[in-house]
Amino acid sequence: MIDTKILKNITVLYAEDELILQEGISETLNLFEINVICVKNGQEGLSVFKSSHKKIDLILTDIKMPKLDGIGMIEKIREIDKNIPIIITTAHQETNFLMQSIELDISAYVLKPIDIYKLEASLIKAIESKVLREELIQKNKKLEIEIQKNEEKQKIMETQSRFAAMGEMINMIAHQWRQPLASIGTASYNLKYKLLSEKFDLETKEGRAEQSNFFSKKLDEIEFYVQNLTTTIDDFRNFFKTDKVFVNTRIENPIRNTLKIIQKDLESNNIDVILNLRSQNQINIYENEIVHVIINILKNAQDKLSEKKIENAKIEITTLDLEDGIKIDIYDNGGGIEKENLDIIFEPYFSTKKEKNGTGIGLYMSKIIVEKNHQGKIYATNISEGICFSIILYCMI
Ligand SMILES: Nc1ncnc2c1ncn2[C@@H]1O[C@H](COP(=O)(O)OP(=O)(O)OP(=O)(O)O)[C@@H](O)[C@H]1O
Ligand SMILES: [Mg+2]
Repeated sequence: MIDTKILKNITVLYAEDELILQEGISETLNLFEINVICVKNGQEGLSVFKSSHKKIDLILTDIKMPKLDGIGMIEKIREIDKNIPIIITTAHQETNFLMQSIELDISAYVLKPIDIYKLEASLIKAIESKVLREELIQKNKKLEIEIQKNEEKQKIMETQSRFAAMGEMINMIAHQWRQPLASIGTASYNLKYKLLSEKFDLETKEGRAEQSNFFSKKLDEIEFYVQNLTTTIDDFRNFFKTDKVFVNTRIENPIRNTLKIIQKDLESNNIDVILNLRSQNQINIYENEIVHVIINILKNAQDKLSEKKIENAKIEITTLDLEDGIKIDIYDNGGGIEKENLDIIFEPYFSTKKEKNGTGIGLYMSKIIVEKNHQGKIYATNISEGICFSIILYCMI
């Protein structure tokens, strides 16, 4: 049984110049509760379509008509609407128009004299595919909006993650700068002290030479430390550069660059960093992003080690070559993660650091960077007294 419900309340524009046929067919269509707008030639059809094409669901048309024929009308209608279903009613002797109509994307042809069951079946088929197409368009629109929303969310998270990292950076800069600043302070204090206490006998040549040596040694020291401060700032600035540059490098480089930024901070928390950097393979990476990931993991390890007040706190970074890539293991002996949390630590906003206002996006962003931007893998395993974060990156991506 054909289900005619789909035809209920649709509006058909029907062009036919044989008025008896027009009347008969439209009465039958009315029985299916179809609204029919009848016109007697292509020109009329076109003007009705132009004025109310949003209301019309389907076009049923004869070919041979005065003023403008069916094909002429369809050509004009297709310029306005590429998708509206069109059914042509045709007599055998008119089949020469068929080639012409192929390009016009006709839904069906119904031969005259019209078999009403065939017409009904063609109408159902045409309307079904129209409904399906419209549903598909709606679904696609929804999907596009969803994708756009996700992309926006992702961008917000990236910014949040950078801000969080920036907060950490300020801490790290403070640690990094403490020692050179103290040394500059000591050197300038020494200079001032020697000057004020008149330690040098400026009457003699030896005295003046001694003073000059002392001053130039201390000024060299100050210059050295100032250089050191500048380098630190450059290292941090590099990290915050947003330009994505793909580099071919050994994994050792981003690891050492990360340590330049974070090591002083770790040392001041009595955390030993042990390096087993064995990997030699060259890989293609966005270096800053990988630095970001390593910092996230090291900061998490530092948080855990400090929270648990672990004696002999250590972080071990091991790299090794795989056949087609490299693996980094970052292990800390901070006690690891509760088993039930192991699977969810990479989800956005999961954080057990409420008192520290943890955002819970550090590991989420790390996963995006490794798995989406580098097609690699990142996972965590509880082992012995702590946890190991493993990252796999491939040579070719
Ligand atoms: N080395 C680790 N040892 C134990 N638990 C860890 C370790 N690293 C991460 N976690 C757990 O994973 C959670 C999520 O980490 P993530 O870096 O995503 O966010 P966060 O550190 O809580 O917040 P933020 O990074 O904004 O400070 C942490 O709250 C913590 O519970
Ligand atoms: Mg974190």
